[in-house]
Amino acid sequence: MTAVLAIDQGTSGTKAIVVDEAGRVLALAEEALHPRYLDGGGVEQDPEALWDSVVDAGRRAVAEAGVPLAAVALANQGETVLAWDRATGRPLSQAVVWQDRRSEAICDVRRHEAERVAERTGLVLDPYFSAPKMRWLRDHVTTDGVVTTTDTWLVHRLCGAFVTDASTASRSLLLELDEVAWSGELLDVFGLGDEALPEVVASDDVVGTTTVFGAEVPVTGLVVDQQAALLAEACLEAGTAKCTYGTGAFLLAQLGERAVRSTAGLTTSVAWRLAGRTSYCVDGQVYTAASAVRWATELGLVGAADQLDAVAAPDSDGVLCVPALAGLAAPWWDPQATASFTGMTLSSGRGQLVRALLEGVAAQVALLAGLVGADLGAPLTRLRVDGGLTRSHVLMQAQADLAQLPVDVYPSAHATPLGAAACARLALDPGLDLAEVVGGWTPDHVFEPAWGADRAEEFLDRWQAAATQSSLGKA
Ligand code: G3P
Repeated sequence: MTAVLAIDQGTSGTKAIVVDEAGRVLALAEEALHPRYLDGGGVEQDPEALWDSVVDAGRRAVAEAGVPLAAVALANQGETVLAWDRATGRPLSQAVVWQDRRSEAICDVRRHEAERVAERTGLVLDPYFSAPKMRWLRDHVTTDGVVTTTDTWLVHRLCGAFVTDASTASRSLLLELDEVAWSGELLDVFGLGDEALPEVVASDDVVGTTTVFGAEVPVTGLVVDQQAALLAEACLEAGTAKCTYGTGAFLLAQLGERAVRSTAGLTTSVAWRLAGRTSYCVDGQVYTAASAVRWATELGLVGAADQLDAVAAPDSDGVLCVPALAGLAAPWWDPQATASFTGMTLSSGRGQLVRALLEGVAAQVALLAGLVGADLGAPLTRLRVDGGLTRSHVLMQAQADLAQLPVDVYPSAHATPLGAAACARLALDPGLDLAEVVGGWTPDHVFEPAWGADRAEEFLDRWQAAATQSSLGKA
């Protein structure tokens, strides 16, 4: 048996699985993480807590599996950055999380470069991506050490390499998307020209070996978490799409080997570089999905995420929610947008509010699905979904109704680490092709649209008007 330890280092926690060559999960361990939400839009994590979570979850999973490992794979948050000392591996800053909006002014003063940046990188000039946050760390925290995404730092601690994979690099605003190479010009746009940058590697490159989890094993299978889920869900053909409902909700559609730039306000990134070929994806983002539910839980609207369906009323009775608790991404790109509940009356209770919150997430994803279709030149025909919030049938039914698409729920709760494990599997056995390492799957559940197209359109029009108000700060 060749078992792979696949680690999903996410925003709200770290999950480690040990998976065999058939994709069977032999062991699972999770460690929760608690990002700090600061005034002024700051979102930070303690880097040592990230590292400890990787080590602890990984070691527990390996102990439980009780089989020898063939490789360690790592999926990462994508755009979370920190400064650190390359000689010692010591963090020199907090990890600035992808949801952090404090680098908005850094984007604003470069607005005249937005078009050039978008053309080169496929991305939008927005605090979500890595480079503005790297600049912010340099301006506000330290000029010492290196400043990189968290994957580079974690991998350095695991095996001493100084690398990032192509999918993570493509989320930085510093990568020439077509060449998959760092751009001197773009580095200068952010005043980062003197920075030491990690080598950009493929997701099936072996970047070193580690003994952190026991016997010495190769480190390979580095990839952004969203792209990992795209791979696990076998979105290999252009036009296939998935949405992962995690801390945020992220809709990604496969583009194939052409890095088509979005004309609909979405972003284009590297899906993965595997077996010597680069695939691209178009993506849209809902910054707060499970983190909006967590917020609702802290307010007492709902006891816990697993009670959403029990609390949600059968109808929101006109209440609309725009869950923009950390600004709005595609296609608004407004870090200042705020969340709103509108349409409330004296009879509105928490049941209506909870349903409106779920419908708000689903509405945003539905709009993104429509925009993805515009970029692909053909509407999506189905939506594959994964992530913790897919357990809410209310959310999934609303998703099918509003997107007017059948929604296929991925049968495993571990799409992201399974995708990273698939990358590692290709490194271990380059003779395999992508479809072989991923395998086929049957949905756990299929949600068919129950609403007619007119009703969905009417709802989305109202929701979009509310989102525009949220973006104007007038909600
Ligand atoms: O772009 C950020 C995203 O990849 C983070 O994913 O699972 O930590 O919400 P997650």
